Amino acid sequence: MAFKILGISGSLRSASSNTSLLRACAAIAPADMVFSIYDGLDKLPYFSPELDTEQSTAPLTVADLRQQVQAADAVVFSTPEYAFGIPGVLKNALDWLVSSGEFTHKPTVVISASPLATGGEKAHASLVQTLTVMTADIREEYKLIIPVIRTKINPEGILTDAVLEKTLRTLISDLAAAKSASEDQH
Ligand SMILES: Cc1cc2nc3c(=O)[nH]c(=O)nc-3n(C[C@H](O)[C@H](O)[C@H](O)COP(=O)(O)O)c2cc1C
Repeated sequence: MAFKILGISGSLRSASSNTSLLRACAAIAPADMVFSIYDGLDKLPYFSPELDTEQSTAPLTVADLRQQVQAADAVVFSTPEYAFGIPGVLKNALDWLVSSGEFTHKPTVVISASPLATGGEKAHASLVQTLTVMTADIREEYKLIIPVIRTKINPEGILTDAVLEKTLRTLISDLAAAKSASEDQH
């Protein structure tokens, strides 16, 4: 079966550099992988525990997000930093996934990208922390902070930086290799 990766961008902007990075990953992914990009972040209701109990059924958009994460062999986040934190829409999506458990042991890549030299490092740390609490499998090599992103992606959203392209290529193949190594052990 094809190795499935789900990309989740923390930005709703149509010209988002973070979404462009995920599109670049999808383009780089080998033909025997399926790399899809989640596009429902702005359709999710605001999280409330009252909407998510055994008595109430989760809203359809939430069920769809959970199903997409569950079905993925790995998840790749790419997020901007807003006021030193992760975008509210992304945190809202994560809150819906905390108790349902789809991230348990899920190989997860965390990328932040920013036009600033800091690369969104505070949002990166915050996203890693939240996903760690959710017991996602985030290895050191799955963490990437990308500074001055606008020098690496052109205005059309195409990745122009060869070093970054190589890094993303390695990341994606590491994910697939880690899965086949763990299957060999079982
Ligand atoms: C409300 C707001 C707050 C921002 N705060 C930060 C910040 O704290 N750190 C940072 O590196 N960039 C910050 N930025 C700039 C974003 O990094 C920049 O807009 C980036 O392009 C957003 O990512 P995107 O291209 O994927 O949409 C902020 C932008 C906005 C609109």
